[in-house]
Amino acid sequence: MQDKINEIRRRALSELVSVTDSKALDDIRVRVLGKKGELMGILRSMGQVAADMRPLIGSWVNEARENIENAIADAQKAIAAKEMQRRLEKEKIDVTLPVKERSEGSLHPMSLVLEKLFDIFTGMGFEAVEGPEVEYDRYNFELMNIPQNHPARDAQDTFYVDDNIVLRTHTSPVQARIMTTRKPPIRIVSFGRVYRADEADATHSPVFHQLEGLVIDENVSMGDLKGTLDTFARRLYGEGVTTRFRPSFFPFTEPSAEVDLTCAACRGKGCRICKDTGWIEVLGSGMVNPKVLEMCGIDSKKYSGFAFGMGVERLSNLKYNITDMRNLYENDVRFLKQFRT
Ligand code: PHE
Repeated sequence: MQDKINEIRRRALSELVSVTDSKALDDIRVRVLGKKGELMGILRSMGQVAADMRPLIGSWVNEARENIENAIADAQKAIAAKEMQRRLEKEKIDVTLPVKERSEGSLHPMSLVLEKLFDIFTGMGFEAVEGPEVEYDRYNFELMNIPQNHPARDAQDTFYVDDNIVLRTHTSPVQARIMTTRKPPIRIVSFGRVYRADEADATHSPVFHQLEGLVIDENVSMGDLKGTLDTFARRLYGEGVTTRFRPSFFPFTEPSAEVDLTCAACRGKGCRICKDTGWIEVLGSGMVNPKVLEMCGIDSKKYSGFAFGMGVERLSNLKYNITDMRNLYENDVRFLKQFRT
């Protein structure tokens, strides 16, 4: 009987050493340890054995079962490790394969300049506000001291939506909206799109962007305007860039000034971009016309203010040496990706 048990164990253990998959392992387990398996067979045949021998035989069977169960557990671990190994090999990544190129976006030059302008003016204590692009005639013209039939209306070829509504021709209506709803002190800037019925060419577009600034308080002078614009010029284009004021006319400012900046390309020496003058005209400005203050409900005896407005395309073209404004709108990536920061 002992020989028979030893033989079952020997065979099972030797088979378990070479088993390589869980199916074969299971077969061995059922054949040897199962209810109708080889070891149970021994126990079942106990009836023919002398009663005093039975405990001894039982202990042999138990010992064999324990050995085999341990061997099965070991084989199971080995198989699991091998299966993991096989899976890892199948999933191996070839790091030498070429990768699919990922094209990276970049900010549009207009966005870059707008962000910079935002930093410059909020840094000087201005609050950024917005106004609608589809605007009432009243804000775009009337409150800006440009009444019906005023020649300044013709100067700004206006897109009319109906008799009372226009696509705003400048950002100045934002001034009117702020002045009619707030009390001084006021210190705001406003960026946005404006519309004029112009043919698109290298320097014109029917849609472009303006930046408007407005300050109203007691004792605001033209010196404050000059100081603000000088600081803006230096911060946008660097040290050595300054402003030059030339007398001008706007219905909503009095006195008014056209403001030139030192040509950033040649630093004032004279070049093709500034047509050898050393200066570039970039903005309109002036002291807010007392008539405008009064129309908007602000006491012009107590308060004064300055305002300025500029074309943002102009500023970015000068900053990045862009010579044709249409490049800004065509969205050719070969053009746009040059402005990655
Ligand atoms: N609104 C003027 C324009 O579009 C610019 C400007 C703004 C001038 C504010 C003076 C003061 O040309």
